[in-house]
Amino acid sequence: MKKFKRILVTSALPYANGPLHIGHLAGAYVPADIYVRYQRLKKADVLFIGGSDEHGVPITIRAKKEGVTPKEIIDRYHYLMKETFKGMGISYDFYGRTSSEVHHKLASDFFRKLYDNGKFIEKTCEQYYDEEARMFLADRYITGECPCCHHEKAYGDQCEKCCTSLSPTDLINPVSTVSGSKPVMKETTHWYLPLEQYQEWLEKWILEEHKEWRPNVYGQCKSWLDMGLQPRAVSRDLDWGIPVPVDNAEGKVLYVWFDAPIGYISNTKEFCDQNPERGSWETWWKEPDTRIVHFIGKDNIVFHCIVFPAMLKAEGTFTLPDNVPSNEFLNLEDDKISTSRNWAVWVDEYLEDFPGKADVMRYVLTANAPETKDNNFTWKNFQAHNNNELVAIFGNFVNRALVLTDKYFGGIVPPCGELTDYDRNTLKEFDEVKQQLESLLDNFKFRDAQKEAMNLARIGNKYLADTEPWKLAKTDMKRVETILNLSVQMVANLSIAFEPFLPFSCEKLRKMIALEEVRWEDLGSFDLMEAGHKLCKPELLFEKIEDDAIEAQIQKLFKQKKEAAENGAESQPANPIKPDIEFPEFEKMDLRIGTVLECTKVPKADKLLQFRIDDGLGCRTIVSGIADWYKPEDLVGKQVCFIANLAPRKIRGIESQGMILSASDAADGSYAVITVQRAVKPGSEVC
Ligand code: MF3
Ligand code: ZN
Repeated sequence: MKKFKRILVTSALPYANGPLHIGHLAGAYVPADIYVRYQRLKKADVLFIGGSDEHGVPITIRAKKEGVTPKEIIDRYHYLMKETFKGMGISYDFYGRTSSEVHHKLASDFFRKLYDNGKFIEKTCEQYYDEEARMFLADRYITGECPCCHHEKAYGDQCEKCCTSLSPTDLINPVSTVSGSKPVMKETTHWYLPLEQYQEWLEKWILEEHKEWRPNVYGQCKSWLDMGLQPRAVSRDLDWGIPVPVDNAEGKVLYVWFDAPIGYISNTKEFCDQNPERGSWETWWKEPDTRIVHFIGKDNIVFHCIVFPAMLKAEGTFTLPDNVPSNEFLNLEDDKISTSRNWAVWVDEYLEDFPGKADVMRYVLTANAPETKDNNFTWKNFQAHNNNELVAIFGNFVNRALVLTDKYFGGIVPPCGELTDYDRNTLKEFDEVKQQLESLLDNFKFRDAQKEAMNLARIGNKYLADTEPWKLAKTDMKRVETILNLSVQMVANLSIAFEPFLPFSCEKLRKMIALEEVRWEDLGSFDLMEAGHKLCKPELLFEKIEDDAIEAQIQKLFKQKKEAAENGAESQPANPIKPDIEFPEFEKMDLRIGTVLECTKVPKADKLLQFRIDDGLGCRTIVSGIADWYKPEDLVGKQVCFIANLAPRKIRGIESQGMILSASDAADGSYAVITVQRAVKPGSEVC
């Protein structure tokens, strides 16, 4: 392993065009913060840099929509996000913004250096131009008919209906969303970074020298590299951003993905200018013994692993990232988080609805961290993690240990007598978990690491349950002293082990046990507090979350979504009608009504339900992919409509004899089983 002197941690600069939701937190912010807090506990020289990404088209679109300037938008969201991060305990050393002067200058100089050294190629091509608004149109500013599904409102970069990715020239009857006029083709010149020239170098650097990167990151890089890299434009025709610093480039700005990652550097510079004792920004960015780690979400992988490193390489004096731990996506109640459909838990609202509970959200997001695959957040699961783990395990152990010490020893840590074998085993278990925890944190496996921390609390709970000091208190006070000494030491250990994950609770806990500074090194030590050390009054660390608070959040989600749909945020027309068929074709289909006799989940297939149906002649098995929307027991006894003469098919090894019909709700893609208005005899034909 390479030896590093200092660690520079960054987390993706969020766009300042809306509030943060829990998907953001789970993707790049909570993991980065866990890592940084862990390094701080280890007394590493670590710097945590973040900031708002304040350029790019979405910000200008939002401003236009609201009839305000982009500056108003970025100010609003920059401060909101900064506050939200603080509320969640995301402990940046510096949170900057890309509209700052320092950043504009640094990004501009960076571009200019590459330009002067001939690192760009200049290309002229035709692009859509709005003559009325007098501007070139970004892809998102053009709508038109999708060439694939003929949806009328496809965007210049993607059809949201059929998900095909498009380029603006693919659209039939393109329209500018700025003025509503028909755009024309016009020549424009841009600068491109010829990524293909870095292909070989990137292949070696990533595929050979960074095999330790997470499989999802490594895999995505490999597939980009396998496809062959192409030149990437680094400028845009736009009036919001950093002007391209060359002559005759009026109306052109740096592409947001060119300037934003440079924001990591300029924010470091601003920090170092204000805190010279932490070294110069150049030490952080140019010394080879700095370990640079970028925390990001999966949609950012190509920019951080391929484009930005190529930029740094082209510049020539910068250190490259050592790792880029990227998470997959977090879903919400089994559905993709979507800003436009308002299907999201907004973090600023969470902090208002659950004051003092930032740690609970941190805990749950880490417990469900989408580290290797997409994962799911549900409010029920949130409640379960809080009540069954934070309250029932961690909180309970701490409370029992402290209350007993208070009761028997007036809150003074008793002396530790002779240890039994059982005591020694427990101490050993603590020591082992510490090593586990460390290796997991070093390898960015935060979900498993947090589990190990909770295991420590489990060990503590078990220790108290097994030794039963409240019984011994009548007969053997000496033994009680030892048990509670060890228990309180365990509590102190927990305040270290959980510190990266639950910083607010650990601070509170350390106040209760009057422990000032802790270091990672001390984890596993059982003389963190000497006999005679005075503890403070114990309080509850966590509190139970009741059903009604959870129900209210679920209701709120659906209300939000309904309102967004009513405001036409993304209300889509129903699917177009398929080509006509003749009556005999319809008649070939044998549609029947049957009664559900049994319904069960198909093991290991989340989406499938297996039915036994009375079809009037006998009994048949049908498998249907509607498990997300129905509990099996709710369907038993119902009459459903099915295709009786569909050739049998094997689904997950089960022969499905027909197909149960459901409506696929055009609003949200959920399924509703088709039933009859009144009970009919099983086997009745549908005609
Ligand atoms: N704003 C981008 C996003 O939210 C992330 C930018 S990261 C940086 O997806 F490297 F460019 F800063
Ligand atoms: Zn389409």
